[in-house]
Amino acid sequence: MTRKRVAVLISGRGTNLQALLDAQGPFCPYEIVVVVSNNAGVAGLDRAREAGVEAVAIEHRAFGKDREAFERALDAFLRDRNVELVALAGFMRVLTSYFVGAWAGKLINIHPSLLPSFPGLDTYARALASGAKLAGCSVHWVTEGVDTGPIIGQAAVPVMPGDTPDALAARTLEAEHLLYPACLSLVCGGAPLSQGPAPILVNAFL
Ligand code: GRF
Repeated sequence: MTRKRVAVLISGRGTNLQALLDAQGPFCPYEIVVVVSNNAGVAGLDRAREAGVEAVAIEHRAFGKDREAFERALDAFLRDRNVELVALAGFMRVLTSYFVGAWAGKLINIHPSLLPSFPGLDTYARALASGAKLAGCSVHWVTEGVDTGPIIGQAAVPVMPGDTPDALAARTLEAEHLLYPACLSLVCGGAPLSQGPAPILVNAFL
């Protein structure tokens, strides 16, 4: 089986990266060939190295306010590694139209809400304040605009009485770890890898 060469972009702890790494097995249609962080010294880079995957920091700070210069360096690096698809996993930089255009149709993200509700930050507190009984996470194609691209898949979790943002975040994160490998597998041409009983709803925007 030829596996799609995937880069994962992170900024921090990398638990979604870990889930994507752990799902790689004989029937997995993707191979994570490199992990890039815009912050050096983060736990996610160690997770990649422990899995035997190249892990690199390309620090946005080195490029000052020039977002496109940072993205050009990132783009050149990914092309040098023959990357075919880029998965954002807790990558805390908004990408400009330059990078989004260059990777159109090859760039996906995971977001901790049931989009189109609650794009952007503070999703758990906003979900709780809304009174919603269901929260969850979404994997979507990245287009211009924050968290607005076509949805690939979503997983829902219940909002429980007395929930705090932290409690809801922890419950949502467990669902993310099931949803992201399933969606990445799907967009890489395989069946959605299912590793558990989470309510995964896969959308048709492929
Ligand atoms: C996740 O909640 C993801 O949905 C959001 O950032 C967080 C990253 O967590 N985009 P981790 O680094 O994967 O643990």
